[in-house]
Amino acid sequence: MDTLGNWKRTHYCGDLRATDVGREVILMGWALRRRDHGGLIFIDLRDREGIAQIVFDPEVNGPAHSVAENVRSEFVLAVRGKVIPRPDGTVNPNMKTGEVEIQVLECKLLNRSKPLPFMLDEHSDISENIRLKYRYLDLRRPQLQHNLILRSRVSQLTRSYLTDNGFIELETPFLTKSTPEGARDFLVPSRINQGQFYALPQSPQIFKQILMISGFDRYFQVVRCFRDEDLRADRQPEFTQIDCEMSFIDREDIITVMEGLMARIFTEAKGVQVQLPIERLTYAEAIRRFGVDNPDMRFGMELCELTDLVQASGFKVFADVAAKGGIIKGLNAKGCSGFSRKEIDDLTDFVKIYGAKGLAYVKIENGEWHSPIAKFFTADEIAAMNANFGAQEGDLLFFVADKPKVVNDSLGKLRNHLANILKLTSKDDYRFVWVTDFPLLEWDEDEKRWAAVHHPFTAPMDEDIEFVESDPGRCRAKAYDLVLNGNEIGGGSIRIHQEQVQSLMFKLLGMSVEDARSKFGFLLDALEFGTPPHGGIAFGMDRLIMLLTGSDSIRDVIAFPKTQKGTCMMSEAPSPVDLKQLRELGIRLAEKTV
Ligand code: AMO
Ligand code: AMP
Repeated sequence: MDTLGNWKRTHYCGDLRATDVGREVILMGWALRRRDHGGLIFIDLRDREGIAQIVFDPEVNGPAHSVAENVRSEFVLAVRGKVIPRPDGTVNPNMKTGEVEIQVLECKLLNRSKPLPFMLDEHSDISENIRLKYRYLDLRRPQLQHNLILRSRVSQLTRSYLTDNGFIELETPFLTKSTPEGARDFLVPSRINQGQFYALPQSPQIFKQILMISGFDRYFQVVRCFRDEDLRADRQPEFTQIDCEMSFIDREDIITVMEGLMARIFTEAKGVQVQLPIERLTYAEAIRRFGVDNPDMRFGMELCELTDLVQASGFKVFADVAAKGGIIKGLNAKGCSGFSRKEIDDLTDFVKIYGAKGLAYVKIENGEWHSPIAKFFTADEIAAMNANFGAQEGDLLFFVADKPKVVNDSLGKLRNHLANILKLTSKDDYRFVWVTDFPLLEWDEDEKRWAAVHHPFTAPMDEDIEFVESDPGRCRAKAYDLVLNGNEIGGGSIRIHQEQVQSLMFKLLGMSVEDARSKFGFLLDALEFGTPPHGGIAFGMDRLIMLLTGSDSIRDVIAFPKTQKGTCMMSEAPSPVDLKQLRELGIRLAEKTV
């Protein structure tokens, strides 16, 4: 095996262009492919920046050609050679370096590689678990390199934008006390204080508020957060937030600064102009029109409210639901009257996941309603519904009748599902929307108590404060989410800055005074020492990069992600530990886990 000796790389493989023709260069990288044409051997040499075609000609350098004969996939090479134009007819317009190749004068074999468990350019058929086990190989793929390089660029842009706007980057502890954000905590046992545990932060929420109390005025941090929750394509147990907090501000100040951040990131990292100001919806309007609080604004297909129109109709299912205080809503799948029975059955199964008991449908064909339920409605009712739906020839109308939550959930999800099936959206179309005025509290049926919709530190809206105790469900919060193409990419709020209001909130959440003190005593104390009005927001950095790179999963924008089961396939974490380690921590495992 050769050593680098005094060789210094002159260029990245991917950087060579026609203007470099005639230069002598030294490149270093991995052999992606080798083609042996009898005399000439071609190797695609790859590094972070791209691929260069290097040519070994036995006439030019015999020893280098002999090295090339034994090169296999992912061998590590250094080559010294001359940049020459590719012969006529062999230019590759799909490659950045496709106009040139390197005539090798000398070659060093720096390292070998075992045969790979999968080919890097044929990743699509490989199970994700295999890719994650060999993540170091998977990460060599250009797409993943691109994703992570863009991620680095977004971190840089974020830091520079926020610093320019007076934010100070401060760190907060990882070994901390539980800060509820709605998920379970990851706990870390303390060796020095046996029987006691730190919690990894679900977010720096309380600490950033305390930094406002300390007078830092504007804080930010690109910070890891930890949540032990059920994982999905857009959720990881550890993920990164762009976390911000500001003092002496109201919601509009935060929204303005953060719109500027998004515009800066999208223009500079992606070349996409963000139309400012970003559109806004209240939570109530989002639910009414789209069924969900994270609406995808790239397409229409809004929900129609039909309760008043059908409550007195002859269709018992609808009339009964309305009589019990439920609602009936629908949506118009335009031009879909050709859907088969099977397709409609599949959609019916789909809405059942969200609790719907059925999915009534109507096909508009030859100017008439074709549907098992058509017979239950008068001509006037049908005309009124048609008008509401904007129904036209060839449309397919869907209806769900149930409690409001079930109707909105199921139709909201059906709307997204249909947009996927009908390919109504493009990944390059970026539509932001702020959703504001969330409810402050929601009733937790399992625990039989009110729970904070955002988190317990979010302030109620001024006009609703008087109902906080008498009618908690009616109170709205000074909370806002930023939604991009149907994904919640950020959320924040104006905070409670008065101790009495914070204590009242803990009481509403079912906490005794002692409980509140033992969990949040330090915050309640701090709030009494001159707390400025303050508020903030946190963006999900991984989700943002997922959307910027058009990835389907946040695992594709995280160097070392966890599986759906929370495991790291590469390092095999989590794993058992030595009994000695447990003993030091004063921990004994329950019988069945040993
Ligand atoms: P929130 O809980 O809404 O707010 O989180 C902010 C943003 O973080 C992202 N996010 C996640 N991304 C990946 N995996 C997860 N498990 C995950 N959970 C959340 C989302 C979300 O919008 N302290 C508050 C912020 C504040 O009030 O300032 C907070 O953490 O994109
Ligand atoms: P049924 O009278 O139960 O045979 O239902 C007639 C049609 O109404 C079927 O297409 C069902 O899927 C649909 N349906 C039943 N219950 C509901 C409901 N709660 N909301 C919407 N459609 C329903």
